[in-house]
Amino acid sequence: VHWSAEEKQLIASLWGKVNVEECGAEALARLLIVYPWTQRFFSSFGNLSSPTAIIGNPKVRAHGKKVLTSFGEAVKNLDNIKATYSKLSELHCEKLHVDPENFRLLGDILIIVLASHFARDFTPACQFAWQKLVGVVAHALARKYH
Ligand code: HEM
Repeated sequence: VHWSAEEKQLIASLWGKVNVEECGAEALARLLIVYPWTQRFFSSFGNLSSPTAIIGNPKVRAHGKKVLTSFGEAVKNLDNIKATYSKLSELHCEKLHVDPENFRLLGDILIIVLASHFARDFTPACQFAWQKLVGVVAHALARKYH
């Protein structure tokens, strides 16, 4: 994957404004609410019985932060995303058996969260760069299936 200087700049400057705890929690909560079948992977997280329960669930919050923090590794290693997620791909594919379609869904949800938090900064060019990034991350995470 080639990143132009402009794409790199758009990704880095938006990422610098992201509150990883807030946006991570929101993204994972939205995934569980909008695509309820993803709840099946998180049966150890306790109460996921309603949108309110999911949004208020501390394990969802903590895990959302963990996932978005991990996403930050892609931002820091744009030219080396495959290697960055090699271990996580093994975990998600071989141990957790997460269908790779779900990586794409979470990526699209992250785009929506970013757009809603940073409306003015989230220009079409910025969206283009982020769509590309979430696509590359989903592909890297799914690699152990290939
Ligand atoms: C665990 C990242 C997408 C299900 C994890 C961990 C990380 C991570 C960093 C912790 C690994 C560890 O403890 O060593 C990501 C990233 C994703 C992603 C970067 C996409 C951008 C998903 C999706 C699902 C999922 C879409 C399911 C729908 C899980 C589960 C665990 C996990 C079930 C273990 C949770 C636990 O019991 O602690 N993920 N993940 N992940 N992930 Fe993901």
